[in-house]
Amino acid sequence: MPTEARTSDQRGLVLITPEAFADMDHWHSTIGELRREAPVAWVEADGWPSFWAVTSHEGVFEVSRRSDVFFNTERSAPGPDFNYDMMAAMGIDPPRTLVHIHGDIHQKYRNVTNDWFKPAAVRGLQESIDTIADEYLDRLVELGGTCDFATDIAVPFTIRVIMGIFGVPREDEAFMLELTQGLFGAGDPEYLGDLTDPFELVTGTIRRFETYFDELTEARRARPTNDLATVIANGMVDGKPLGEIERLWYYIIVATAGHDTTSFSASGGLEQLLRHPDQLRALQEDPSLIVNATEEIIRWTSPVRSFFRWAQEDFELCGVKISKGDVVLTSYPAANRDETVFPNPDEFDIRRPEANKLLSFGLGMHYCLGSQVARREVQTLVRKLLERVDTIELNGRAEWTATHFVSGVKHLPIRYTLK
Ligand code: HEM
Repeated sequence: MPTEARTSDQRGLVLITPEAFADMDHWHSTIGELRREAPVAWVEADGWPSFWAVTSHEGVFEVSRRSDVFFNTERSAPGPDFNYDMMAAMGIDPPRTLVHIHGDIHQKYRNVTNDWFKPAAVRGLQESIDTIADEYLDRLVELGGTCDFATDIAVPFTIRVIMGIFGVPREDEAFMLELTQGLFGAGDPEYLGDLTDPFELVTGTIRRFETYFDELTEARRARPTNDLATVIANGMVDGKPLGEIERLWYYIIVATAGHDTTSFSASGGLEQLLRHPDQLRALQEDPSLIVNATEEIIRWTSPVRSFFRWAQEDFELCGVKISKGDVVLTSYPAANRDETVFPNPDEFDIRRPEANKLLSFGLGMHYCLGSQVARREVQTLVRKLLERVDTIELNGRAEWTATHFVSGVKHLPIRYTLK
C-alpha cells in the first residue's frame, strides 16, 4: 500500500535555498539523512510550488525514465513563483528551451542538433578542445605559480569551447559570460549585477541577447558554415524554420547549459584531487585512469542540482503515492551519493568501479545533449594540467556558488610549479 505522507519535511528546503549550496558538506549531510529516512519527501516552501523531493538513485532514475508520466514544462528549472510572476508582469514569454518542452515537439526540436552531439561528431571536436586547453594552460606560465584555477582557466576554457562550437568570435565571450551568469548565477551576490532597476536588468538583457542571436541567424543563413549556429539558424521542424522564440532559446540553452556546468565540474574535480594527493599522483603516473576519474569527478560535482517534473497521472514512486498534478524535484547530487548504488558515497575515488552509474546528466528523453562534449572537456583539461605541473596544491579556501540550480566551485586558489 503506497503512503501519502504530506507533512512537509523542512530538511528538503536545502534543495531550493541558494545559500545552502555554498556549503556542500552541510548540504550532503542534511540530504543524506533525508534520503535514508524519506527518499521521496513532501516539501512546502513559501513562495514556491510544494514538491516531492526525490533524493534516491532509484527515484531519480524512475522519474527520468517515466517521461510518459512526469512531464517537463515551462517551469522545469526550479524557481520561486516570483520569477514567473515577474516575467508575466513584464510581458516576457516563458522560456521554451529543450528542457521546457515535452513529448513529440521536444523530440522534433532535439533532432535539429542531435547528430551534431553524437559521439562520432564530438570526436571530431577533440583537436580543437586540445588546442584551446593548451592555450589556457599556457597561462600558467605567465601567472607565475599561483592562480584561481576556476576563474583564470576553467571558466574561460569552457566558454571558448562552446563559442568555438557555435562558431562565434572571441570578442563576444564576455557577453556570453554575462548571459550564463545572469541566468544561472541568480542568488549568488557575486553575479547579481546592477539591481537598481531589476525591470531594466531583465528586459534589457533579454533584448540584447535577442539582437545578438538575430544577427547571428542572419549571418549564418546568408553564409552557412559547418558550425552549430548554422544548424540552429537553418533548422527545420515539420518543414518550417524554427519559431523565433524557440530559435532564441535554442541558442541560449546550448550556450548556458554547455558552459558553467562543465567549468564547475573541472574546478570541483581538481579541488578533490588536491585534497587526495595520492590519487592526483596516480593520475599523473597513469593517464589511462582519466576516463574513470572523469566519471567520478562528474558524479562528485553534479553541477546541475535538480529539475522539476509534473505528474500527469497518479503514480507510485518508491512506495509513495504521487497524485496527478504534483510536482517532483529530481536531485542529481543526492542520487549520486546514494549508498545503495555507490558504496562509501562521500569518498572521492577515481578508481570507483560504479562511477559510470552517475545521474549527473539525467536520463531518458531529456538526457544531456552535451554529455560527450562535457566529458571530453573535463578529461582534456585535467589530463593536460597534470602533464604540465610538477607540484600543485591548494593555496587558500575553495568557494562554492550560492545558487540552487547550476552551481559548484567558483574560486579555487592553487599554487604550483611547472615541469
Ligand atoms: C558536466 C557538465 C554537464 C552536466 C552535469 C549537464 C547536466 C544536464 C542535465 C541534468 C540535463 C537534464 C537531463 C534530464 O532532464 O534528464 C541536461 C540537459 C541538457 N544539456 Fe547538459 N550538462 C552538462 C554539459 C552540457 C554541455 C557541454 C552541453 C552542450 C554543449 C549541454 C547541453 C544540454 C542540453 C541542450 C540539454 C537539454 C536536453 C533536452 O532537454 O533534451 N550540457 N544537462
